[in-house]
Amino acid sequence: MNAKPMIFSGIQPSGKLHIGNYLGAIKQFVPLQDTYDAIFGIVDLHAMTQLYDKEEMSERIINAAVNYLACGLDPDKATLMLQSGVSEHAELAWILSTVTPLPWIQRVPTFKEKAKNQPDNVNMGLFNYPVLMAADILLYKSVAVPVGEDQRPHLELTREIARAFNQRFGSFFPEPEEIIKGGKDARVMGLDGKRRMSKSLDNCIYLDDDAETIYEKVTRQGVTDPARVRKSDPGNPDICNMFTWHTFFSDERTQKECAQQCRDAEFGCMDCKAVLVRNIVQTLEPIQERQKELLEDLDKVRDIISEGTERARKIAREAMKEVREITGMTYLD
Ligand code: AMP
Ligand code: TRP
Repeated sequence: MNAKPMIFSGIQPSGKLHIGNYLGAIKQFVPLQDTYDAIFGIVDLHAMTQLYDKEEMSERIINAAVNYLACGLDPDKATLMLQSGVSEHAELAWILSTVTPLPWIQRVPTFKEKAKNQPDNVNMGLFNYPVLMAADILLYKSVAVPVGEDQRPHLELTREIARAFNQRFGSFFPEPEEIIKGGKDARVMGLDGKRRMSKSLDNCIYLDDDAETIYEKVTRQGVTDPARVRKSDPGNPDICNMFTWHTFFSDERTQKECAQQCRDAEFGCMDCKAVLVRNIVQTLEPIQERQKELLEDLDKVRDIISEGTERARKIAREAMKEVREITGMTYLD
């Protein structure tokens, strides 16, 4: 029997991972694998809601796995699985969609945002996205879900769906809590300082960017205090996005020194960015080393995904058997 409570989280294999994904989500997964029975899903069915190149999907999946592992997920502690390898996710999503009133989905802000971003491809999958996400979570009777701040509405909806199911068919699913880190790194702004870092916008530092790329991006694209024009103008770190990044990557002493020198106009934005770049590079170094090792041993990564998926399949199969029983869908049993 499983002694530890279950948690589930997912990341779409929709491209490379960036420091927003790392700081807002993956970094907090790592300590959780000690206290919970954690399942981390590469949610490829969700990724199908956007147009994609089918030749690339396998590569994206393996990249997502490499990134998860390089950031510290330990396959001896946590389960890394592929969503499309466990067909119960889609099956439960269908059942949950039958207890989900249409207006609940219509009001989800992420649907509206995605529909706006891809007006030529507002497909039913995009609409059902949060129901499939609820299925991912509830299938494993997860008690909690670690995610970034933007996923809060999906978690609220998941609880409502669990409640609606339980009311109709009898208490079965726990109502999962969200584990969302407080602090600025719950919502990492992009290089532009205006919008959340996102792979669909050109405002990311990727986990596999090399030192030179990071330097180029930060120095050219990193937006600082807009009122500071010359080095001799005193700056205001409180409204400088690059300073916020210092709080993610630099130690407290460096943060204090940079802030003070900026306020006293002793330090130009370029000086401050040079320190920042060094600290980002240093933080990413061990992750990138591990990435390299894993990329040289892709067979091992594939084995980790298949073993994790197999374990998830066993849990899911049991759970769906119970769901079929309590919903009366057992005619052929
Ligand atoms: P996505 O890449 O949109 O599938 O997101 C994967 C995970 O990273 C989710 O838990 C998001 O909440 C989190 N995440 C994505 N972008 C950011 C960001 N800019 N800041 C903080 N967390 C983020
Ligand atoms: N919607 C999540 C995102 O865009 C990904 C996701 C799919 C997920 N299923 C999940 C996250 C289940 C947590 C739990 O980031």
